[in-house]
Amino acid sequence: MGMDYSKIDQWILAEDSFDPVHLGKCEAVMSLGNGYMGLRSAAEERYVGETRDLLINGTFDRFDESEVTELPNAADVTAVELWVGGERFSLDQGSCTGYSRELNLKTGELTRRVEWTSPKGDKVGLVFRRIVSLKRLHDIALTVTVTCLEQPVALKVRSGIDARVTNTGTQHFTEGEKRFYEKKYLQLLETTIESGITFVVNAVHRFALNGQPLELDTDVNIDRRVLYADYTVDLKPGDCFTVEKYANVFTTRDLDCAGKTVAELQAQTLEDLKTSAALGYQALAEESAAQWQLEVWDRAPLDIQGDENSQFDLFALRFAQYHMRLMLPRHDNRMNIGAKGLSGEGYKGHCFWDTEIFLLPYYMFTDPEAARKLEEYRYLSLPGAHRKAKENGYRGAMFPWESAWLDDGETCPLYMGTDILTGTPIKVWSGIIEQHITADVAFGAWQYYAITGDQAFLDDYGYELIMDAAIFWASRLEKGEDGQYHINDVVGPDEYHEHVNDNAFTNYMAQWNLNKAIEYHDELKAERPELFQRLDEKLNLAEVYPQWVDGAAHIYLPQPTEENILPMDDRFMQGKEIDLTKYKEQDFVAGIMKDYNLEQIQGIQVCKQADCLVLFYLLEDEFPPEVKRASWAYYEARTLHDSSLSLSTHSVQAADMGELDMAYDLFRKAATIDLGPYMGTSDAGIHAASFGGVWQCAVYGFGGVRMLNGKLRIEPKLPKGWDKLQFTLMWQGQKLQVTATKENVVVENLTGTKPVTFTLNGTEIQA
Ligand code: BGC
Repeated sequence: MGMDYSKIDQWILAEDSFDPVHLGKCEAVMSLGNGYMGLRSAAEERYVGETRDLLINGTFDRFDESEVTELPNAADVTAVELWVGGERFSLDQGSCTGYSRELNLKTGELTRRVEWTSPKGDKVGLVFRRIVSLKRLHDIALTVTVTCLEQPVALKVRSGIDARVTNTGTQHFTEGEKRFYEKKYLQLLETTIESGITFVVNAVHRFALNGQPLELDTDVNIDRRVLYADYTVDLKPGDCFTVEKYANVFTTRDLDCAGKTVAELQAQTLEDLKTSAALGYQALAEESAAQWQLEVWDRAPLDIQGDENSQFDLFALRFAQYHMRLMLPRHDNRMNIGAKGLSGEGYKGHCFWDTEIFLLPYYMFTDPEAARKLEEYRYLSLPGAHRKAKENGYRGAMFPWESAWLDDGETCPLYMGTDILTGTPIKVWSGIIEQHITADVAFGAWQYYAITGDQAFLDDYGYELIMDAAIFWASRLEKGEDGQYHINDVVGPDEYHEHVNDNAFTNYMAQWNLNKAIEYHDELKAERPELFQRLDEKLNLAEVYPQWVDGAAHIYLPQPTEENILPMDDRFMQGKEIDLTKYKEQDFVAGIMKDYNLEQIQGIQVCKQADCLVLFYLLEDEFPPEVKRASWAYYEARTLHDSSLSLSTHSVQAADMGELDMAYDLFRKAATIDLGPYMGTSDAGIHAASFGGVWQCAVYGFGGVRMLNGKLRIEPKLPKGWDKLQFTLMWQGQKLQVTATKENVVVENLTGTKPVTFTLNGTEIQA
């Protein structure tokens, strides 16, 4: 694609030519945002095949019974159409003699430079700059600078607010009020059809000619779902004309708008817009960049030194950090992180186990406050989890496989993709039987507590959540003829195998959940009677406790074979072996689905993604090294990594085993999931979990960091090409800086208000 890796310095992602084939991918990987909103980087001029998304976190809407709830695509404010000498500026026509588009990760600014000659021969230089402010969460600002390069040209600019956008055809909004204030300020309202959330979108333009402010006559237009203004200006050679566009978006679901009427919102947001416009683009961009520095780069600095490749590696990690901030709702605990962040419509903004298992480690170790919000979301969504349990004939909290608004319950669609044999849509069983999510959520809550030491979280939310999840597991267990408890008919993490019994990951994690609930029950009963009583009243502990004890003691746990391989379920190892070379070598995913349907795949020893390998590193101490090693070799040979969650797990595990070349190779592949042409699926949005995975490859894998049984372990082992790896870790309120070279490791406590005890390469020490 047009991405030029040779130009990647450690902060700039550059595209050096325009190729309509890569519209979607570039829109997604170069998207801007701040956790409140995500804005795909569609160009200012429109193209066939573009996806112009502006997604506001948490604003879910369900169009109709036949569809699942999703983040609606808000009105577009980024389109700025230009006519040069009467001809529409578009890279599809005329000729382009210079092109670059750069995303600066450090500042969050997108810049595009184009030198364009219209079909008639008028030549202009264009510079587009754009930010979504990290400081003012509702603000978008952009500028377009047109330099007249040869003969005089008449320039026409059309820009406004466009609510004609949809979610791949679905229109989530009713048409609302539209108006111009003072012939200058544009305001558009739109309300989601089912969830009734009103969006207020404002925009205003300012102009300058050769650095001097310019007033232009406005030709205003209001039409169906759109309002825009036309401006014209005559330019002579050497003239430099700038359009500044300031926009903001608010919704009636925003916490900072709580209690306001729509009319109040309209007035207040207009005032906010005036304030931002008065500051000007440069000032807004600078304060946003300063916020990036503060919130991300100073908070979680990372450094790698080594060979040429290591500089790409560092870039890839920063790219991951960049996107992990874009998707993070730091401002509101009623929402979580979608599998595509806020960078596209894929997975509809729903969150999965991706949050707890792949993303949470990064946030817990770098930004505990934000991690807490993500965990609070799970607690607040207990009503939906209770509903799901009831609907399925269970008790307690059965967390949805796909989660959206707090009380939605399960939001996983019932059908997706095409069955290659029958030609019908494929039924998605995950929402019904991919049940390990409940243990993953409980595990996340415990991990958060263990890493942060946030006892108040445990008291207010964590104990209850973990116990409520254990109640679900106790009700889920099925007594077998062997007298043991089984968990039948599930999908484990590997989604190529449906309706399996005793998936190892599910059973071990369910047992972990039951044991953790028992441990907390005993502890609280003995030491915190008041809290115990409160929980008892809510959860009826006297009744459920014996069930936990019985369940944990008698749950069937798959055991390793004589060859030390842990069977991932009751069926996989009896499956047919086929030659997977073709699928392993394909540079696109799910190629196997073009030759076999899911029913056939069930009978083949092939995995979409890591399954029990995830277990090995969550419950590291439960499995001897020889089991991990043999299982890794067995499953890696059979895994197609058709999920972006897979490579990093394999990499971390390979690093744990000391297979550093292998670990590095897998890390590089994981790092290019969105950065390279490796997966075609970035069009619908980036792969959120894979960013957490990439960070884990570096910090968990090569940094050897792990929280095990509540204790911190650091055991760095750098890959060949790296001479130095430096990162920070927040551990129970203290910020540690780890600097590892091939010769030694230095751990410094930067906070220094409390000593931290941890194991460094096998020896317990303090910093
Ligand atoms: C994977 C799941 C993952 C989901 C969202 C699926 O393709 O199999 O493990 O949770 O994508 O990222």
